[in-house]
Amino acid sequence: MAAVDAVARETHEIDRDALRVWFAIWPELVRELTAPGEDQQRRLQFFQMNGGYRLEAKTDSSHRFLYGHRYWPAIKRAMGGVKAAERWERLQECASASGAPRNFGLAMAAIAQMTLEQCGPDFLKTAYEPKLVAESPEEMSRRRARSGKPSLLARLTGAAGGDRVVFDEQKPEAWFPILATQEITTAAEADKRPYHEQDERCYEGMGPIPVDCRSGSCGTCWVGVIGGNANLDPVEEFERKRMEYFGYWDSGFVDGQGERPLVRLACQARANGSVTIVIPPWNGVFGRSRRERELGD
Ligand code: FES
Repeated sequence: MAAVDAVARETHEIDRDALRVWFAIWPELVRELTAPGEDQQRRLQFFQMNGGYRLEAKTDSSHRFLYGHRYWPAIKRAMGGVKAAERWERLQECASASGAPRNFGLAMAAIAQMTLEQCGPDFLKTAYEPKLVAESPEEMSRRRARSGKPSLLARLTGAAGGDRVVFDEQKPEAWFPILATQEITTAAEADKRPYHEQDERCYEGMGPIPVDCRSGSCGTCWVGVIGGNANLDPVEEFERKRMEYFGYWDSGFVDGQGERPLVRLACQARANGSVTIVIPPWNGVFGRSRRERELGD
């Protein structure tokens, strides 16, 4: 946590929350709970792990939502040649050798380091070329701010063109409209595109965010918030307790004390403006009480 905090302080504003969201989605804990072994199937069932929870399959794509993702090939090359033994020095050396601006390179080096620790060094050798929208951090910032301030005409004529939930900034069509005080999943369900063909956790006709109970019971609908967090209602006690039960808040990297944490249950979070989210590719139920019951940790 201290290392992520230190890196976040030196990271460009546009990627600061996204960096924390990445570490919330890919904690060391989940790798340990899902590691191959003779009791793997039993563990996966007990912790109700669903979707793509292994980082090995997403070493090049897991961080597409960071602006710094465009420096990933350079970071990989640099990480392969890093000599420093101590972790913080490794990050600094890697960021500097990559040639990326420090306020993006350090965050990407931290992600590369965690990927290395979880997956081993093979990913450093694979070729990868990011396909990204060409824009500066300032342009991205302006775009996020614009989508958070719809025109009066847009408001009078309905939600389209007004407040929206963007769930993949790299795809221009990856958004759905949202009305004031609507829960994110309620708004998502009006989006009838065939997301079930891309993510088997999605039900047909229920939108891009996987859902099951829609009442805070299952933990399927968790999302990371990388833009417009102030437009979400403060987290309520019920949502807070459920997040702890699922384990999304005690995986070590998300501030569970703040009013508007960066990880939310989309069926509980209500919006009063536009937000930009990340949909994690997996979900599970592995909070401390369940781990103690299963593992005695
Ligand atoms: S859909 Fe079950 S917790 Fe949100």
